[in-house]
Amino acid sequence: TTVEWEAESYDMGGHDTYMHKEISEQADAVDRVLRGRIDDRFATVHLGGLNLDAREARAVRRVKILGCGSAYHAGQIGAQMIEELARIPADAEPASEFRYRNPVVDPDTLYIAVSQSGETYDTLAAVQELKRKGARVLGVVNVVGSAIARETDGGVYVHAGPEVCVVSTKCFTNTAVAFALLALHLGRIRDLSVADGRRIIDGLRRLPGQIEEILRGEERIAKLAAAYADAKSMMFVGRVRGFPVAREASLKLKEVSYIHAEAYPASELKHGPLALIEPAVPTVAIVPGDDLLEKNRATLEEIKARSGRILAVAHVEQEKADDTIVVPANEPELDPVLLGIPLQLLAYHTALALGRDIDKPRNLAKSVTVE
Ligand code: G6P
Repeated sequence: TTVEWEAESYDMGGHDTYMHKEISEQADAVDRVLRGRIDDRFATVHLGGLNLDAREARAVRRVKILGCGSAYHAGQIGAQMIEELARIPADAEPASEFRYRNPVVDPDTLYIAVSQSGETYDTLAAVQELKRKGARVLGVVNVVGSAIARETDGGVYVHAGPEVCVVSTKCFTNTAVAFALLALHLGRIRDLSVADGRRIIDGLRRLPGQIEEILRGEERIAKLAAAYADAKSMMFVGRVRGFPVAREASLKLKEVSYIHAEAYPASELKHGPLALIEPAVPTVAIVPGDDLLEKNRATLEEIKARSGRILAVAHVEQEKADDTIVVPANEPELDPVLLGIPLQLLAYHTALALGRDIDKPRNLAKSVTVE
């Protein structure tokens, strides 16, 4: 399929930018990462290239995920999914930080390198350092046969298709889904029940349709983007599952609109960033209808009390927010996949309203292959 991707890659297919094209392709992209992998009989997934047998999977004591930029944020979502579904302690770290701090390399840890291009130098160098020290390293990579795909012991291809726009959208989403597959697979080898496996599989199958539903709301998001485009700076907040979503949305807005944005765990607001809240600094709050809903509502009140404007991304309309983008709910573990999608559109339409060079933001490159 690599060849087909090449053929379609330079055709904008009627879109004004690659970013818009790639955002719009996400239902198909997610369909591709799922295709042929679901095993209904055992309520799990087949990951042909993983190269990690059941005995080895059971012996993993920790998971460490490494990547840069959006890949790092997708890795944070992945780490949470692996902890939740497979109950293996997991975390993500920027690949460069990891390799510069002389990390302790532990034989019982499974290392996972995440990369769209498979060529990012910092991520590749982290993989090489790990391999040299005898670690087992898997890849969650989009480009088939890329350097990171070749250097890792095995992994999961993301199958997002070619991504041309410098800022990552469909590959980010597909990477999060690829991690859901990996988490489900590891979970079902360990303690995840058949019922929970089925619940996640049903959730995975609902994703493409729900993505279509979110994309149908584009017109309203474009209006919201125009209404918030005069912001001096924007705060993005979320808790636990919502936090990596907030970080990625903040990165997206910065990259493509050049509006300063910051992401914070919602509960950390009171430890400093509340001082920034004023009408010219709106907050985007990620408010899924999960067990942290009440906590998140309290955050909205704190912001409102400081006369901050709030745009909520939530499963139901939030009365404390000035505006809410309602996103369909999936299974709580899979919600992060969907919550970020309207915020890709928000970043895109903000950049459009401000006349930015959307596919090639200043000072940035699609893949950073030097140190
Ligand atoms: C560059 C791009 C980012 C991307 C990062 C990692 O900084 O501008 O959009 O997330 O590299 O790229 P990779 O190809 O490793 O995912």
